[in-house]
Amino acid sequence: MSGHAETPPPAAAHAAAFAAHAPVMAREVVEALAPKDGGVYVDATFGGGGYARAILAAADCAVIGFDRDPTAIERARGWAAGYGDRLMLINRPFAEMEAGLAEAGVNGVDGVVFDLGVSSMQLDEAGRGFSFRREGPLSMRMDGGRPDAADVVAAADAAALASIFRAYGEEKKAGQIARAIVRAREDAPIATTTALAEIVERAAPPRFGKGKGGVRIHPATRVFQALRIFVNDEIGQLTAGLFAAERVLREAGRLAAVTFHSLEDRIVKRFFAARVAERPAGSRHAPPREGPAPTFSLLSAKAIAPGEDEIARNPRARSARLRAGLRLAGPAAPAVVDGLGALRLVDVKEFRKGGAS
Ligand SMILES: C[S@@+](CC[C@H](N)C(=O)[O-])C[C@H]1O[C@@H](n2cnc3c(N)ncnc32)[C@H](O)[C@@H]1O
Repeated sequence: MSGHAETPPPAAAHAAAFAAHAPVMAREVVEALAPKDGGVYVDATFGGGGYARAILAAADCAVIGFDRDPTAIERARGWAAGYGDRLMLINRPFAEMEAGLAEAGVNGVDGVVFDLGVSSMQLDEAGRGFSFRREGPLSMRMDGGRPDAADVVAAADAAALASIFRAYGEEKKAGQIARAIVRAREDAPIATTTALAEIVERAAPPRFGKGKGGVRIHPATRVFQALRIFVNDEIGQLTAGLFAAERVLREAGRLAAVTFHSLEDRIVKRFFAARVAERPAGSRHAPPREGPAPTFSLLSAKAIAPGEDEIARNPRARSARLRAGLRLAGPAAPAVVDGLGALRLVDVKEFRKGGAS
């Protein structure tokens, strides 16, 4: 990658499509990354390429975009070519960032950004099975592989289903819903998004009144989120991705992560907390405590939330939180998952049912 400007991007042709899938907190992300001329940046969750384009517009730099979803990469091929060697796309999960970068001949980067979860394009495509509002096969695998959500719903026992819904959906009626699924699948396989949503709705009907923040959520929301996180191993990916980012960042490189629910935000927060200089409680000016050398300093003490104008334009941004840090000199801290709040459940591969993963 040269980091030099290439042919101007064919932006106009894609502007309308991108407006419909506006990237969340793009301005804040670019501020956190502070792209510089000649820099190399990893967009770990390329999606529709909104962040990548914003980074490329901010400096004469290069971006390497990762996405585990082959359709995200294929969809971008045409316009990405307009950036020449300033933009490279890699169809791999970000947990494999180091191998992907090594194959591309890149041995250090100036910034890494994560924008976690699914894209609005994935949600909108009924055939991907991410949305309970659209009838489609119960897939939910970002890479289209197996075992998928239908395999899990068909094979997991009630206790395993309940633990998935509880851990990754923070669903209070997890047991009730899991037992209803096990009963329903004795009559007929649960193959579609809407079939599962109906079973969940019958098992845990919505209560009257509004939920947290005045918003009433559909009873299937948490169950779908939990299955999606489980089948894509999103928590394992997140911890591995953060550790990889720490290793590939050069000194003064920047790490930014946008999360959409408390499970992920807690992991990012604890990851940084374990890596910044600890100071004795109550004394902001005292020297740091003894311990492993810090590898990051925080770019803001608290998580940054989107502005009200963005939430009004794009309600999906409501729950987004951005945390960012500046990489200090020295080797990466040990990649220890314990203490990050990353709940470990059974391995999704246990539910492989005649399909390749
Ligand atoms: C919220 S979207 C990102 C949107 C993007 N920032 C934009 O501006 O268009 C998340 C994307 O990350 C991808 N993704 C999620 N987890 C991933 C992982 N572990 N490795 C690589 N890509 C992942 C999804 O397939 C999806 O396309």
